[in-house]
Amino acid sequence: MEITFGQGAEAFEDAAAVRTRVFVEEQGFKNEFGPEDEASEMIHVTLYGDGVLLGCARVFPATLEPALDDAPGRWVFGRLAVLPEARKGGLGSLLLAESERIAREAGATEMHLHAQCSAQPFYAKAGYAAYGPVELDEHVEHQWMAKAL
Ligand SMILES: CC(C)(COP(=O)(O)OP(=O)(O)OC[C@H]1O[C@@H](n2cnc3c(N)ncnc32)[C@H](O)[C@@H]1OP(=O)(O)O)[C@@H](O)C(=O)NCCC(=O)NCCS
Repeated sequence: MEITFGQGAEAFEDAAAVRTRVFVEEQGFKNEFGPEDEASEMIHVTLYGDGVLLGCARVFPATLEPALDDAPGRWVFGRLAVLPEARKGGLGSLLLAESERIAREAGATEMHLHAQCSAQPFYAKAGYAAYGPVELDEHVEHQWMAKAL
């Protein structure tokens, strides 16, 4: 399978389609989209296998994240989703690595993410360490994780 990526504002429409299917329809989130999705600093990332849309993520400077203090080089990763039929084949890891590469190129030195607790083993394998309290985002437990890039 040939893997390609989309990036930036023009990737938002495809990213929104994956997020609707995974976070709204599969996981039941009500407030999936926010004004930050359309901010100029937001970088949407999409993944295609042989041209077919399979997953997405987003990555952005911490200035766009009200829950975090801003600091030089601090970036945030999130909304990682792979369509159910395409999971467990390494695509989630590829989206994370591509987003880290994009952020690093833009000057990021540390990455933070608000992980669903059930996905923490996935992020731990990629080098992220949990910090702070476990808190509910809608009906799902989350915890911040971070790593140096
Ligand atoms: C999380 C997600 C993006 C991973 O995508 P993927 O393409 O399956 O990821 P990969 O194939 O690269 O990695 C899968 C690995 O992560 C682990 N993993 C993924 N989700 C997990 C979870 N919820 N709990 C525990 N482990 C998980 C798998 O066991 C697997 O480990 P292995 O390689 O040792 O078997 C995908 O499961 C998904 O879209 N889930 C629904 C949306 C979601 O919860 N996103 C995370 C929000 S924080």
